[in-house]
Amino acid sequence: MSTTNKSPTVDAAPKRRRQQTAVDIAARKGAEPIVCLTAYITPMAARMDPYCDLILVGDSVGMVLYGMDSTLAVSLDMMIAHGRAVCRGAKEALVVIDLPFGTYEESHEQAFRSAARALSETGAGAVKLEGGEEMADTVRFLTRRGIPVLGHVGLMPQSVHAHGGYGARGRTEDEWQPIINDAVAIAEAGAFAVVLEGVAEPLARAVTETCPVPVIGIGASNACDGQILVTEDMLGLFAINPKFVKRFAEIGASIEGAIADYSAAVRGREFPGEAQTYKMKAKA
Ligand code: KIV
Repeated sequence: MSTTNKSPTVDAAPKRRRQQTAVDIAARKGAEPIVCLTAYITPMAARMDPYCDLILVGDSVGMVLYGMDSTLAVSLDMMIAHGRAVCRGAKEALVVIDLPFGTYEESHEQAFRSAARALSETGAGAVKLEGGEEMADTVRFLTRRGIPVLGHVGLMPQSVHAHGGYGARGRTEDEWQPIINDAVAIAEAGAFAVVLEGVAEPLARAVTETCPVPVIGIGASNACDGQILVTEDMLGLFAINPKFVKRFAEIGASIEGAIADYSAAVRGREFPGEAQTYKMKAKA
């Protein structure tokens, strides 16, 4: 990671005595910013664990690791497999599992069954689901039965077809009130925090001021209580860079450069060299 982005006055890896819970995150409303990233595999989770308060096993896994063109085809089994992998690497951060499209919208019972599997089969501490006022009763049903829920409002990737794309929301004031109502409804239904995605800065500020639980922004300005990014985006794995992503590294270029070097070394018979070659044991 680049060292040029580090602030000398901020402790990037705070000392924590135990794994963070949804209750710990909820208590951070209006306090120091909540640091969140996505992870899908054990080594990445282990690397980010000392620095992050919350690690999301996002359904973005479908697009980031599997090359899907949306999150809609991600299954609960995929989320559970990646959730298990992330929980093996995360000892301090709260791990949250995304409930994928089609696994929670039909009924409260369907949502409970999916959320219970996501928690009991992975060891994660919470689930995330997308939706505003229309999902508030489901959030209430889950939270009253012991399932911590992280909400997700604003731009909701699982509704990409209904919304007609991934464009930012709330760029005209007539779009504001429904998004504020969504965040407040999910919070009042018992969510411990709400992800707010892809909205204009003044709306993000209004949502953060109105919503009683922490608002975690992605493409939602610096006004939120915390921030989340897709890790592979902020590490610079992809050629395409959304406006709201700052690239803290260029691993895409670094990977390609390393593979080009490997290819040249193999083709030129320079690899493996002496150092990578087993020798015979000395005779006794
Ligand atoms: O799936 C995901 O990674 C997410 C984040 C973008 C918040 O929902």
